[in-house]
Amino acid sequence: MTIGKLNNLVAKLDHRWISSILKQALMTTMVSKVHLSTIPPKPVIPSKKPFKVDLVGGKRYSWCTCGHSKKQPFCDGTHKTKAQGLSPLRFVPEKDTTVWLCGCKYTNNRPYCDGTHKQDFIISAPLHELN
Ligand code: FES
Repeated sequence: MTIGKLNNLVAKLDHRWISSILKQALMTTMVSKVHLSTIPPKPVIPSKKPFKVDLVGGKRYSWCTCGHSKKQPFCDGTHKTKAQGLSPLRFVPEKDTTVWLCGCKYTNNRPYCDGTHKQDFIISAPLHELN
């Protein structure tokens, strides 16, 4: 049931017997379910080090954000089955360049490494086996 349909139902029943407290509880339940169902999965960690990559200017790249790709650090489409809700980050470098692309997937400067892989939560986390 959508929020709109729920609102219509509550409006129709309002004059009969639903109190404002019951309406609020009903809306809270619906909103909670909406939020829970839209939380994207967390990425797995395929590498605890960045990947040094030569990029071609003007070419479009898809950086893997889920960590499940077997073509790290790039996307191979595995997110469609193993990490629904996550999608690759697409980017086009302006010129030929060599960069360090994040391998841990937790950088704050996607798709580039920002040193986050040196933090304890990455060091102590399990490494995802790509098989
Ligand atoms: S590899 Fe992810 S921040 Fe360095």
